[in-house]
Amino acid sequence: MRTKIVAGNWKMNKNLQETKELLAELSAKLPDTDADVIVAPTFVNLQAAKTALQDSTIQVAAQNMHFAENGAYTGEISADMLLSLGVDVVILGHSERRSYFGEDDALLAKKVKTAIEKDMKIIFCFGEELEDRKSGNHFALVESQLKNALFDLEANAWNKIVLAYEPVWAIGTGETASPEQAQEMHAFIRKTIADAYNSSIAEGVSILYGGSVKPANAAEIFSKPDVDGGLIGGASLVATDFTDIIKAI
Ligand code: 13P
Repeated sequence: MRTKIVAGNWKMNKNLQETKELLAELSAKLPDTDADVIVAPTFVNLQAAKTALQDSTIQVAAQNMHFAENGAYTGEISADMLLSLGVDVVILGHSERRSYFGEDDALLAKKVKTAIEKDMKIIFCFGEELEDRKSGNHFALVESQLKNALFDLEANAWNKIVLAYEPVWAIGTGETASPEQAQEMHAFIRKTIADAYNSSIAEGVSILYGGSVKPANAAEIFSKPDVDGGLIGGASLVATDFTDIIKAI
């Protein structure tokens, strides 16, 4: 049985006070669920989030981290800094990091390697741009993103990996991949992993869908056999929307 996961990527939203308020509301409204529930506030509010959630089952993730142990990397955050706050889950490879901050597969491979060495759980994001889908290149592109950043990992690292397929054309646009498009890609991802490793790794890895998931469309997307949950942006900033999405899994 794969782990079901609903994760909220808050991106650059919510100041300290707003973070505390949203987490208090979320904790109060959290439905009974078998799914892992994760929130990823901005770096400066991670400690407050850990404190606010100390008696909660909700986990806290970082939205990014640097690959280096420490050193002269002004403005960056290391794995040890996160771990020292008790944060052992990190989102890597988000399309906004790739497109606005120039993070490519080679850099992401280094970040993944560091996170695995530090025994962190990784939510690894990837997905095609609209042009790739229009030109029919989306499967090849996704395969190359996985191969370049993840396929040098030892087999036993895969129990620390969660995949998040986020087609860029569906992020923050209101445009969702249809449940069929999500299922088709998730099945392809699983087959790609089975070919590169083996079927037990492929069957064990949780693959989340991200891109305009809302209470109104979550149940149908989550009903697909290869969709194990969601990585939620905008709707994770509203407690009732996020909890309704959790109820849909
Ligand atoms: P939206 O849910 O706002 O489309 O964002 C998805 C996303 O990028 C989550 O990481």
